[in-house]
Amino acid sequence: MVAPLKVGIAGLGTVGAEVVRLIEEQGRTLSARCGRGVRVVAVTARSKVKKRRLDLRDIAWAKNALALASDPGIDCFVELMGGSGEPALSAIEAALKSGKSVVTANKALIAKHGLRLAKSAEKHGGALNFEAAVGAAIPVVKTLREGLAGTDVNRVYGILNGTCNYILTRMEQEGLSFAECLKDAQRLGYAEANPSFDVDGHDTAQKLAILASLAFGTKVAQSAVYVEGISSIAPEDLRAAEELGYRVKLLGVAVRTAKGIEQRVHPTMVPKSSSIAQVMGVTNAVTIDGAGIPPITLVGPGAGGAATASAVVADIADVARGIRAMPFGRPVERLRATSKAPMERHEGGYYIRLMARDLAGTAATIATRLAEQKISIESIVQRHSDGVDANGAARKASPVPVILITYATSEDAVYRALQAVQRDKVISGRPQVIRIEKN
Ligand code: HSE
Repeated sequence: MVAPLKVGIAGLGTVGAEVVRLIEEQGRTLSARCGRGVRVVAVTARSKVKKRRLDLRDIAWAKNALALASDPGIDCFVELMGGSGEPALSAIEAALKSGKSVVTANKALIAKHGLRLAKSAEKHGGALNFEAAVGAAIPVVKTLREGLAGTDVNRVYGILNGTCNYILTRMEQEGLSFAECLKDAQRLGYAEANPSFDVDGHDTAQKLAILASLAFGTKVAQSAVYVEGISSIAPEDLRAAEELGYRVKLLGVAVRTAKGIEQRVHPTMVPKSSSIAQVMGVTNAVTIDGAGIPPITLVGPGAGGAATASAVVADIADVARGIRAMPFGRPVERLRATSKAPMERHEGGYYIRLMARDLAGTAATIATRLAEQKISIESIVQRHSDGVDANGAARKASPVPVILITYATSEDAVYRALQAVQRDKVISGRPQVIRIEKN
């Protein structure tokens, strides 16, 4: 009879409390699935007296995370405190150094210190599992690391931030502004008090850097991700996208190109018929394009106590079973350095919205400037200007939206063409440009 796995948990917030509850509730199932029991034997958190609706009477209380991580009475240290640095970093390092396995949901820490921690795990023989760090309950880390070990991945992309997808969904469905939807997301507790981390794309970038490492064997590096958020998206972009057969999503995309691995986070037009376009509200989704097989899309809850705890407990179950995968799917010394791809070299289709002078020759000027850069137009729509009489005779020179979709071209070419159009003074304001990602 194998002794039960003794687990210590640092952090008893929404996720930590849910993990304690789930291990208790799933005790029999876990024992059957792992061939041994799993027991939480010690915990620690900022406050011992906080009301948590957990029965902790048979569980020891450690002085702090570092003490818990170094406790010889535990086999597996579970870090659920969060934060990209201390005290989580030292505690995890101490646990690994003493040969323990570590489970964490901390994407910021893995994105920043993942390599160093993985090296330590390799050296000392423990596992370092972080399934919950990306897409919470969606088993995407395991899919890339283990399920697709025999497949070359060409592209991995997804909706990795529920807050942004919630905002874009409501803007699209109700015609509301970004600011209005953000306020609601904050009220409902989806967005952080400082929402910049979500809406400016940094949360997605951390998750993407982890996925890119697993998919392509690159060194996890948030600095290698090009990042653009969703605050510039207007309801008219979502309306135009809808009419043209697209939806706008904040995507994290990591793709193999002839020039290396491109990692980018930005608002993206995706065809309305694609799997990723069907994903609404706070739900997350990841699509993986593997060589020789049709795309795989995983969809599910990417945040929340129960969803995150589900992945944490699965990682603990792997430790109980004695499964120890290389944290990033291969030895750290085999991971390749990667740098930020210059977006001017990016190639793809583009959505362009311009506020154009509503006078003869404007459309011709725009078309000429695009043609000069060898940009081919897939579709072009000009809205009616307000104040036009029944015959269109009293047309004023007030600006009207012109929306263009281009065939694949380089970003460089798009910006050169738009600069020329601006010099021609046939448009006002800044053009809106959104990249298109085809499935
Ligand atoms: N702020 C994140 C989101 C939570 O909105 O998806 C999970 O990382």
